[in-house]
Amino acid sequence: MSSRLRIRQHVNPLRAEYQKVRATAVALPPGRPLEVELGCADARFTLERASAEPERTFVGLEIREEMVHFVNRKARAAGLDNALLVFANMNFDLPALFAQHPVARYHLLFPDPWFKKRHHKRRVVNPELMADLHSTLEPGGEVSFASDVWDVALDAMAVFEERDDLFVNMRGPWSFWPGSPFAARSRRDLACQRKGWPVWRMRYLKK
Ligand SMILES: C[S@@+](CC[C@H](N)C(=O)[O-])C[C@H]1O[C@@H](n2cnc3c(N)ncnc32)[C@H](O)[C@@H]1O
Repeated sequence: MSSRLRIRQHVNPLRAEYQKVRATAVALPPGRPLEVELGCADARFTLERASAEPERTFVGLEIREEMVHFVNRKARAAGLDNALLVFANMNFDLPALFAQHPVARYHLLFPDPWFKKRHHKRRVVNPELMADLHSTLEPGGEVSFASDVWDVALDAMAVFEERDDLFVNMRGPWSFWPGSPFAARSRRDLACQRKGWPVWRMRYLKK
């Protein structure tokens, strides 16, 4: 069996083993803008951006540990030295990871494959995440969000709009961003593009 086949499709982020701070600050080169993808899976988007923007540092956070090791090996083999994946839970680990190295831009792309109502409590965009994003962003830093699930996008927008003391919607209150602001595509984004599915995008700036 290849290492790819051993990577789990999902883990339950509410399991006790994931409900604690586990990550510690990563050593990152000073003075370079930092972009972080939250829940990056195979990091297709992050690796493409890292390759296109070598003067920036890219970190992908992923809760499936095997995936983190697999992608890090792949990035090293490709000679990408400005991209790193970290095994972390975005709902616990942001302050420990980035308090010393503020983030220029967060990407939250196609989170939450939890369609059943009983799984909605697993959703990652919640008031606590707002506070952690805000405290770890640099002044004027950005959060970019995308989802092809209308309810997920609308619920996430409501959480951001509720904190208009922390974030400003770059398109205007309660507005989606038209088109993708970045050339790179995550695996889910590419699948939506191929199938012609709509994608709802938002961009928020730290106040
Ligand atoms: C639906 S996939 C989307 C992957 C990728 N962003 C894309 O657009 O193709 C969501 C990813 O987030 C990860 N994830 C879910 N909850 C997480 C959490 N609390 N912290 C970090 N990663 C998480 C999952 O393991 C999965 O890889």
